[in-house]
Amino acid sequence: MKKAAAVLDKAPSSDSTEAVAALRQRHVLPLPGPMYSTPIQIVRGQMQYLFDEKGRKYLDAFAGVATVSIGHCHPHWLSKIEEQMRQYFHTTPLYLHPSLGAFAKRLAGKLHAANPELEVCFFTNSGSEANELAALIAKNFTGCHDFVALRHAYHGRTLMTMALTGQSNWRHSTPYGQSVHFAKACYTYRRPEGQTPRQFAASCVDDLADLIKTSTPGKIAAFYAEPINGVGGVITPEPEYFPGAYEAVKKAGGLFIADEVQTGVGRTGKTFTGIEKWGVRPDIVTMAKGLGNGYPIGAVITTRRIAEAMKGKLHYNTFGGGPVQMAAAGAVLDVLEKEKLADNAAEVGSYLMGRLKKLERESAHVGEARGMGLMIGVEIVKDQKRKEPAPELAAKLLDLTKERGLLIGKGGLAGNVLRVKPPLCVTRRDADFAADVLQESLAAL
Ligand SMILES: Cc1ncc(COP(=O)(O)O)c(C=O)c1O
Repeated sequence: MKKAAAVLDKAPSSDSTEAVAALRQRHVLPLPGPMYSTPIQIVRGQMQYLFDEKGRKYLDAFAGVATVSIGHCHPHWLSKIEEQMRQYFHTTPLYLHPSLGAFAKRLAGKLHAANPELEVCFFTNSGSEANELAALIAKNFTGCHDFVALRHAYHGRTLMTMALTGQSNWRHSTPYGQSVHFAKACYTYRRPEGQTPRQFAASCVDDLADLIKTSTPGKIAAFYAEPINGVGGVITPEPEYFPGAYEAVKKAGGLFIADEVQTGVGRTGKTFTGIEKWGVRPDIVTMAKGLGNGYPIGAVITTRRIAEAMKGKLHYNTFGGGPVQMAAAGAVLDVLEKEKLADNAAEVGSYLMGRLKKLERESAHVGEARGMGLMIGVEIVKDQKRKEPAPELAAKLLDLTKERGLLIGKGGLAGNVLRVKPPLCVTRRDADFAADVLQESLAAL
């Protein structure tokens, strides 16, 4: 195979990777462990490609953790941001500016396919803040304080969203002071032996109903769910799961909150949100990441009736809904529509999935390739029969793919799921490149 397009391009940096890494180690709170055995330093991005300090080109199939949606430095996005910055950068949402209401209307319109009643937006700086605010709205609306989240979920890093996160590696031994109960995720690959996927989905719905009956006062504020768990390892539920879960939540008077921070903005292909794929009507949708293409933004979108629970209670965000944020997110929607990127995500995503399914058949270490559109996970195991997670092989694969010019991520409770979530502008050629590199890297293990 062509030794990946590790093309040399001129993008020099005077700061050596060692010097940059040393400064960071000394002065920055540790981030999740180094991704590669030799750290990578990025100095430039262009659409679906990144360039390191030596000018080496990479296909970015992680997109800043599913965040770069329309492409690094997309010219339309840059020009809209620059145009607004030259007018003015920041005042306060307490003053009127033309774009806030206009963008809110446009974003709500995009969510009508998920629920035509979603029409009121609140803007924040991040997905964590959006989820935190959604929880507050749910408490105000229902008068309840009990929440149900899914095991393997990730909802953010504020106090409430840490409490809603169902993964031990992301939890700290501190009381979060919130009433959150965790239901079984519909993680079909790891279902009990002898159960069909449908039976397993039904057992997960039963588990949720039972959890509500036994661990809550019978009434809940809300059920939080990612349509496909992202950080938790691209866990993609059976089609029967969410309709059943929705019914159980509604019986308990709870709101259904769809966390679209990763799955939104067309990532799952064709539809704007991931929840549309499952045919249930969320009461609240939260978004972030891809909505700004890297410009910080978070959004909570809900119905007027639910939003009115916030009436008379002051709520404020210094940067949320600011003019540059609105310009950046507006440009994302422009490009998404003009370049039909959700359709592209479906088309290239299903082509790539076809290639990855072939790897699943051929390699003993590929337990399962799963996902939708360009939200893809590849679960790496010691061997297919026993399905024992192989995080050390996943880590090696990250290094091997990087050496060959491909950047991917890693997640899952055991750290053994490769995450392939490129910008939505990738082509079939990029998909072939990614699949070739993965194939070659698996062979080199
Ligand atoms: C599904 C989901 N929700 C919420 C968040 C938190 O978003 P942020 O990091 O912007 O606070 C993330 C981040 O990865 C996420 O994947």
